[in-house]
Amino acid sequence: MSAVRVTLEASELPTAWFNILPRLATPLEPPLHPATREPVGPDDLAPLFPMALIAQEMSSEPWIDIPGEVLDILSLWRPTPLVRAERLERALDTPARIYFKDESGSPAGSHKPNTAVPQAFYNRAEGIDRLTTETGAGQWGTALSFACTQFGLDCSVYMVRASYEQKPYRTILMQTWGSEVIPSPVDQPDHPGSLGLAISDAVRDAAGRADTHYALGSVLNHVLLHQTIIGLEAKRQLELAGESDPDVVLGCCGGGSNLGGIALPFVADEHVRLVAAEPSSCPTLTEGHFDYDFGDAAGMTPLLPMYTLGHEFVPPAIHAGGLRYHGDSPIISNLVKSGRMEAVAYPQATTFEAAVQFANTEGKLPAPETGHVIRAVIDEALAAKEAAEERVLLFNFSGHGLLDLSAYDDYRHGRLVDT
Ligand SMILES: Cc1ncc(COP(=O)(O)O)c(C=O)c1O
Repeated sequence: MSAVRVTLEASELPTAWFNILPRLATPLEPPLHPATREPVGPDDLAPLFPMALIAQEMSSEPWIDIPGEVLDILSLWRPTPLVRAERLERALDTPARIYFKDESGSPAGSHKPNTAVPQAFYNRAEGIDRLTTETGAGQWGTALSFACTQFGLDCSVYMVRASYEQKPYRTILMQTWGSEVIPSPVDQPDHPGSLGLAISDAVRDAAGRADTHYALGSVLNHVLLHQTIIGLEAKRQLELAGESDPDVVLGCCGGGSNLGGIALPFVADEHVRLVAAEPSSCPTLTEGHFDYDFGDAAGMTPLLPMYTLGHEFVPPAIHAGGLRYHGDSPIISNLVKSGRMEAVAYPQATTFEAAVQFANTEGKLPAPETGHVIRAVIDEALAAKEAAEERVLLFNFSGHGLLDLSAYDDYRHGRLVDT
């Protein structure tokens, strides 16, 4: 059996993003103003975001063209390969065919630059000089730092303190790309932090300066839009691999951007199951409730219609820092609520076990976040074996774990707190 690795030519890079908004069976409820609780309009968002992104956030256009300057930068690492995980299949002795979209080859090592680049581009185009943001494990912060170097923007990253202390190498990478990195929450030096608190710090900073905007690495509609380039490429690559539609498309889910990126282009294919994998210590989709809630801990952002654990929820300091978010993308929440998407939750140790099995078969070391989807994929492959069915599984390999080695060391030495 020969290895399958499907690559696309540079000329096959998608030139438009896929907008799910006009295609949702149930339209999204609008975000609400934090003070008035009335639907927000473009002017309410203008202090934080450029008009082009605000327009994308609310767009009913089915496709949105990708600017040429953005495509030029994306083509540094895109199209990304689609790989068949045959060695993992053999180890599991499963009739399932497992494919992964490898997003780990980007400059930051994850899917996050797919949206960091257009966000930096649109901000620069509207005359902004500086961006602030939050970061969990540091993946998004590194992605935005890289993107800012491409457009000559300054960048300040508020990093969840637990990750800042666990993952110094991400900080060094952000600083190398010229960013300022600040542990969050800034006003409580003993607090482990959370994405919600770091968002409050970054929003507060941006709202106070005219030359500065805020950039969010997940959750919002325009972020998922930019990530659909993953699923668009994967659809074409599966065809080239001789597969009809996959049976299951899976992604790990923090705010929902890599999952949305791979899954949204498959929503209309109703026979394709869509699965979100999240940590059981931060079980937003599996145990949260659907409601309007703030995107940040301090209640400064608009209220979003989403599954939430409550904006004051502070998850334990697990290694998958990018999955420690109290809420979820409104688009992903909408799909879960309507029954179009399923969600599963896993304790931390089982995800490292799966990640290590992947590393020992396929060779690539997953980010701890990515370990969650690999756990779900292995379980699906074993279910296919049980049912003796040749199911096709497609998942997003959202990032590598080469800057998360201390997490693997903790796992190997039994130091992981299993929540
Ligand atoms: C490698 C990786 N995968 C997944 C995620 C989760 O984010 P999202 O749900 O937006 O894809 C992160 C977030 O930092 C990440 O770094």
